[in-house]
Amino acid sequence: MSNQHNQEKLSSARFSESTDAFVEAFTASIMFDKRMYKQDIQGSIAHATMLNKVGILNEQELADIKQGLNQVQAEIEAGDFSWSIKQEDIHMNIEARLTDLIGITGKKLHTGRSRNDQVATDIRLYIRDEIDAILPELKRLQEGLVMLAEREADTIMPGFTHLQTAQPVTFGHHMLAWFEMIKRDVERLVDCRKRANTLPLGSAALAGTTYPIDRHFTAELLGFERVSENSLDGVSDRDFAIEFTHFAATLMMHLSRFSEELVLWSSAQFQFIDLPDRFCTGSSIMPQKKNPDVPELVRGKTGRVYGHLMSLLTLMKSQPLAYNKDNQEDKEPLFDTVDTVKGSLRAFADMVPAMIVKKEMTYEAAKRGFSTATDLADYLVGKGLAFRDSHEVVGLAVAHGIKTGQDLSEMSLETLQGFCDQITDDVYEVLTLEGSVAARNHFGGTAPDQVRAAVTRAKEYLA
Ligand code: ARG
Repeated sequence: MSNQHNQEKLSSARFSESTDAFVEAFTASIMFDKRMYKQDIQGSIAHATMLNKVGILNEQELADIKQGLNQVQAEIEAGDFSWSIKQEDIHMNIEARLTDLIGITGKKLHTGRSRNDQVATDIRLYIRDEIDAILPELKRLQEGLVMLAEREADTIMPGFTHLQTAQPVTFGHHMLAWFEMIKRDVERLVDCRKRANTLPLGSAALAGTTYPIDRHFTAELLGFERVSENSLDGVSDRDFAIEFTHFAATLMMHLSRFSEELVLWSSAQFQFIDLPDRFCTGSSIMPQKKNPDVPELVRGKTGRVYGHLMSLLTLMKSQPLAYNKDNQEDKEPLFDTVDTVKGSLRAFADMVPAMIVKKEMTYEAAKRGFSTATDLADYLVGKGLAFRDSHEVVGLAVAHGIKTGQDLSEMSLETLQGFCDQITDDVYEVLTLEGSVAARNHFGGTAPDQVRAAVTRAKEYLA
């Protein structure tokens, strides 16, 4: 093929023997860092444009480099590029091919830079691109949650503490709790993007370069908001990768919580929801099974993202300034984090709005478990009892209900008055599930009116 690299390894002139074949493979990163080819080319074109502006490359050289790099990109995208372990990484693979194509001018591209600042630039460009792809997916999930919250604003379900029935809540309110979690994830990601959006190029190997480079111009070309202030920090900082992975770990933790609830809710014991068949699988042996694989898998994938966060933190721990080869190990955890987050988000954004809520079942479940007991206690406080005393009275009524199999709302007035003679006819307004949720009618409460108000606010936020 025409594009075979005919060159020896670019940096090998100093060596008197060639690299051990195993070491060559062991130290190479091309197998995974080729994912950043676009960013590498984008960075190189900006660098060459800057070199031309400051008089280091002439017009013809710049034109050749641009045309050559565009051809390299076309070859890669057409699947015609032959990757070489000999050229170690994405930077050298591209540069070697460029030199094949345009001759000596290709070798001038690396003037005033090092792979150290080049790779730092590539990863920042890459992560910025991925952040820009992930943000709309987060938004799509949020839109699904808001849509569901609006649709199920009046749907009553049991709210839990300790996974025991606590008080009735509205399904919409529950969806908006998830919405709030994602909102914080979005904030964290936007914040991470700010620091990722810094140009390290120009730091060169570690100390800067003797050429009269214009880093601010390069930053402008690449859309970076600022230029790194210190060349040693510029080549060695991977905080942004850690921050991104921290965002991802927290997001996955949230998705694992949603997953857990979806798995429970879709069980025969709960029957709160139905997940559409297309998000589930069957069992090879039990014909009745419909397994919630997607939420289970997302719950499981949370583990690997936590692992990647720990990898990156440990990778950077105790590293002396400036660049160390250790840093090559930043990519696989980062890439897998990106893939896992994108896959999980896509699955959730598709699945959440498609789930079917079984209102009668959630309502029946809320009725079991004396979920309006607190409402009765509050009612008695309204009648002048101290809260501790009313707590005691309601405890006795619940014990009676357990014995007779009755909910509080199903007991006769006489029975209730047997526990406290202050109880009158109006008690049934608070004992019903509808009365219970409607009474929690303050900012952030579960009342359907509050859910609708929160939906309005959420829509404004998303607009
Ligand atoms: N492949 C390397 C990495 O991922 C690029 C930088 C190599 N720099 C060096 N001086 N060996 O970090």
